[in-house]
Amino acid sequence: MNAKLESVLNKSILEKEDLVYLLSLGGKDEKRLFEKAYEIKAKYVGRKTYFRGLIEYSNICGKNCYYCGIRGGNKNVHRYELTDDEVMKAVKYALDHNWGSVVMQAGERSDKQFTDRITRILKKIKSYSANPPGITLSLGEQSEEVFQDWFDAGAHRYLLRIESSTKSLYEKIHPNNAAHSFETRLENLKRLQRLNYQTGTGVMIGMPFQTLEHLADDLLFMRDFDIDMCGMGPYIEHSETPLYQYKDQLMPIEDRFRLALRMIAVLRIVMKDVNIASATALQAIHPQGREMALKAGANVIMPNLTPVKYHEDYHLYKNKPTVNEETDLYIQNLEKNIQDAGDVVGYGEWGDPKHYFVRSSK
Ligand code: 5AD
Ligand code: SF4
Repeated sequence: MNAKLESVLNKSILEKEDLVYLLSLGGKDEKRLFEKAYEIKAKYVGRKTYFRGLIEYSNICGKNCYYCGIRGGNKNVHRYELTDDEVMKAVKYALDHNWGSVVMQAGERSDKQFTDRITRILKKIKSYSANPPGITLSLGEQSEEVFQDWFDAGAHRYLLRIESSTKSLYEKIHPNNAAHSFETRLENLKRLQRLNYQTGTGVMIGMPFQTLEHLADDLLFMRDFDIDMCGMGPYIEHSETPLYQYKDQLMPIEDRFRLALRMIAVLRIVMKDVNIASATALQAIHPQGREMALKAGANVIMPNLTPVKYHEDYHLYKNKPTVNEETDLYIQNLEKNIQDAGDVVGYGEWGDPKHYFVRSSK
């Protein structure tokens, strides 16, 4: 037993240096960290995994984040937008399988044609069944009016990753212009919280220029901001992006993977009752990566329900799993792995983050 580790794990409030220490663990100590995180998960949110059917609605994007394969400036990408029927087919799959929620994700656009279409689709999803799914949106920065319209149309959760809570690092991984302003990103997150969305954020882990101190600050940011949900995963370089030039400075991909698991575990310890998604990027590195994250404290998995023919076009990073994966057989296998990990699937429940209800009653 490592006495220092036990004393840090037993502290009621973790300081930045404790977080850096936990993020740097390896071997047996890392295993102990994961066990502790799983214990806390079991105690505060239950040994339960919620499925959210992920609908990658469109890869059209007006932004140019330096890390992202579908950035507007990448002319090699074939752009698509799902039809209503394709969206509804994915929703039907989720409902038929008794999954509580769906996530609509897309590149960022703020033109009225797009925002109105989303409003229409939200209403369609909500009126489709007597037991409509919970809806999470991940559609980037938007005006207060648009966020409100989407909320009124039935969305009640929103994911907007801060990517890095350190302004200077954020600015290194984004173009230096108004469309990619750190302050605007923060303001958008506050807007979502003010509008009463269940608000989620997250970061990429193992980016060039990023240190454990940055990641510890990210965890403190999430705590101070009082987020309800988090989705975070390893950074995976993409050759058609500006950040690719720093690929030789990155830690090995397996180390980024382990560090991402430690981030999940430490967040679970710091924020006991939030929902933590097991990022798809984990699976891109390790076939069972998402299930491993469940053992480290995550409690949400987002199986991809995007029609297979579009998978090739939604490469945020390289090696994204593109198998025609989320077939019935695949899902059965996933379920089995979840059970092996010690969890049950939260069928028929929206699976809202407990933290949201505690936070809003304050
Ligand atoms: N590696 C890992 N994650 C990425 N994202 C974008 N590009 C990459 C990459 N190269 C993540 C960002 C974004 C989310 C939709 O995908 O964090 O918020
Ligand atoms: Fe667009 Fe999102 Fe990619 Fe940035 S991360 S380029 S906003 S899709």
